[in-house]
Order: sequence, then structure tokens, then C-alpha cells
Amino acid sequence: MGRSPWLNAVSGKLLSRLLARPAETVYLPEGSAEGGRRPGLTLDDSAFLETIRSYDVSAQEYADRFADADLRALYQRFLTLVPPGDEPVLDAGCGSGRDCELFILSGLRMIGADISAGLLKLAAQRTNAKLAQCDLRLLPFEEQCFRAVWSCASLVHLGHQDAENAVREFCRVLIPGGTLFLAVRHGAGQEWRSDSKGGRRWFQLYERRTLEEMVTLSGFGIVESEVAEGSVVGQWVNIFAKKA
Ligand SMILES: C[S@@+](CC[C@H](N)C(=O)[O-])C[C@H]1O[C@@H](n2cnc3c(N)ncnc32)[C@H](O)[C@@H]1O
Repeated sequence: MGRSPWLNAVSGKLLSRLLARPAETVYLPEGSAEGGRRPGLTLDDSAFLETIRSYDVSAQEYADRFADADLRALYQRFLTLVPPGDEPVLDAGCGSGRDCELFILSGLRMIGADISAGLLKLAAQRTNAKLAQCDLRLLPFEEQCFRAVWSCASLVHLGHQDAENAVREFCRVLIPGGTLFLAVRHGAGQEWRSDSKGGRRWFQLYERRTLEEMVTLSGFGIVESEVAEGSVVGQWVNIFAKKA
């Protein structure tokens, strides 16, 4: 994946810089999809990179397919659980910005983070959220700088150990008492799914108990968890949790 000319390359702790920049600016911290294998990360990078390439190539198609996903009940529950405060909210794996846009309408200050340049480009057109291109397994944000993290369908392309790394990162960047929402595909094992442009995406499925354990071990107390029908595809494990 080549570096997009519209990205500004920076590294390190970027929240304050991000908040000070115009909405269309997206940063590419070191060690994103182009950075190759990184210490402590166990994912089979070729499956992950193939998956992200698929998003980049079929970004518009993906965005259109899930543009009208009916997540109202989850949005509303999340909003009731976000603690008051000035800190922004992180959409971790924001994709094309659908949820950032909605939460901004509800009065939240949003930062969207994703590794797919193709989807971030669409997000920059759709939402005023500040956007960062980065890897959820190693977030370029300081400790305790978000009051909530919304992660809808974004851990599904990470194996268990990498997903746990990401959940630990969510915990690190949250204020004490901060809220986490996670949604992952329900089931057992892994699978490849084809996109319509000849690419494919790798998915990790989750049993509810597996995700609950991961969240608890990563420093959260579970508020609610459920297995529910998705509005567009399949069954999902949804978890609301609070940083202990
Ligand atoms: C199934 S899409 C969900 C997008 C959006 N949250 C939604 O609900 O439509 C998965 C998203 O997670 C992003 N993603 C997956 N693994 C990631 C990682 N390790 N770091 C950053 N983004 C990641 C992908 O690029 C993609 O945008």
C-alpha cells in the first residue's frame, strides 16, 4: 500500500495536534499498515494486509453496503453510558465515518482511527471528525485522553492475541470510568470472505465468553453483553464495559 499524498506523516502522541488541525487532515503514524511486522504483534500480517487491501480497493462498495446499518439501539445505549467530561470519544476502526457522523450530531467530539487509507478518505468526506490513520494494536495517543471508545466490527480482522492488545490499548487511552463498546462477529474459528472485486477478508469469530474474558482481563468491568442479530449480516457479540 503506497503512502497517500494527502496524508501528513507524523509519529508519536498526536491527540493535541490532531484536535488543533482542520477536519480533513489525516495523520499516518509510524508503524501503520505499511510498517510491516512490529514487536509484540502476533498476527499473520499477510492475512491482515490482504484484508486491509480489500477495504482500500472496495472502500466505496463497503461504505454503501453498511451505510444504513440500523445501530440505533446500540448508539442510544452508548450515549447513556458515556461519562460527562471534555475528553473526546474514539471511534476505533471508524471505517467510512458513519458512526463518527452520528455521534457528532449527538454532541460528542469524535476522533476516528482506522488503518485503511481508502476508508479514511471516505470518512474525511463524510464527517467533521478528526481522523488518524493508525493501528488499533498500538494507538498513537496518550494515556487517559478519551472518555469513551466505540469499536464496532473493527476487531474482527485480528486474531485473539492481537485483539487483546487492541483492547488493552483502549483501556490505556480511556479515563478511569471511561466507556467501551465492542461489537465482533459471533461464532467459532476463523474464515475468509470474498469481496466483489476479487479480494478477500479474513475474519475472527468470537464466542461471547471469549470476548468477555478478554475485556475483563484487559482492565474493564462488563456492564452488559449480548449475542444479537446484526442489522445487515450475521450474529454479533456486543459488549458495553467500563474501565475499572
Ligand atoms: C468491518 S469494518 C467496520 C468499520 C466501521 N466501524 C463500521 O461499523 O462500519 C472493520 C474496520 O476496522 C479497521 N481495522 C481493522 N483492524 C484494524 C487495526 N488493527 N487497526 C486499525 N483499523 C483496523 C478496518 O480498516 C475497517 O475499517
